Amino acid sequence: MRVLVTGGAEELGRAFCEVLGAQGHQLVITGRDEHALDLAEADFRAKGVDVETHVADLGDPHATGKLIESLGNLDVLVNNGALGGPVGPTWEVDESDWWHTFEVNLRGTAFAANAAIRTMSSGRIIDVISNAGVHRWPYVTAYSVSKAAVIKLTENLAIELKHLPIAVLSYDPGMVDIGLMRRGADMESQDPHQQRVSKWARSQRAAGRFTPVEQSADLLARIVSGEFDHLSGGLITPASG
Ligand SMILES: NC(=O)c1ccc[n+]([C@@H]2O[C@H](COP(=O)([O-])OP(=O)(O)OC[C@H]3O[C@@H](n4cnc5c(N)ncnc54)[C@H](OP(=O)(O)O)[C@@H]3O)[C@@H](O)[C@H]2O)c1
Repeated sequence: MRVLVTGGAEELGRAFCEVLGAQGHQLVITGRDEHALDLAEADFRAKGVDVETHVADLGDPHATGKLIESLGNLDVLVNNGALGGPVGPTWEVDESDWWHTFEVNLRGTAFAANAAIRTMSSGRIIDVISNAGVHRWPYVTAYSVSKAAVIKLTENLAIELKHLPIAVLSYDPGMVDIGLMRRGADMESQDPHQQRVSKWARSQRAAGRFTPVEQSADLLARIVSGEFDHLSGGLITPASG
């Protein structure tokens, strides 16, 4: 299958791509960082993976959609790219940073999905969400609320797509010791709010509540395969596996 993974050059998105590439899927990887994309492309090609990479900033409302429309025949879109957003009391953080998080996490996801739906004949869209979109995550509200909105977007799109062979699923990969979560846990800051978030992340790790990255990526690959299409609109979590 031809699978586009936004933000797939590094961290969790890269772990997803590693499994998908090893399973023989054709990969299209996007992100902002051209150098990271080039390195990922060279690495995947060396492993014999059919891959192409494109710079596409999810903060640009049309960049990813235009790319998707130009590609045609995509089977799966994995809306993985996202920002962690600002940390602190909601009324104190920079409002532009707060709103930009929605532009990337919500609008970026929605507009990429729209383009995929307009061009796909069948397949699936997988919206990578977070526990933060299900439960309250105070002091990280741009991230939490934008992910909550994506869960609702997924639910609504699934109903609108009932007459088409396109499934839409939210995927919570669990708390994984990589990317955003690892940076959050290992963050060293004098800021009391960042310290609070960091302390909480470390406590989750110490309590064994993190999901191994391999498990998280394997479950994503099963969703990509279509195994969970009958649950379109729903939320898949490591507990679903
Ligand atoms: N790590 C976890 O434990 C965890 C837990 C739950 C959910 N998640 C979700 O999993 C996904 C990946 O998280 P992560 O931990 O790997 O985060 P990360 O380390 O911050 O990586 C985010 C990825 O998104 C891309 N990205 C960010 N802003 C972008 C933009 N404006 N346009 C295009 N790409 C953009 C980045 O690539 P560029 O810098 O090249 O743009 C990067 O590849 C996110 O949706 C996150 O919410 C992660």
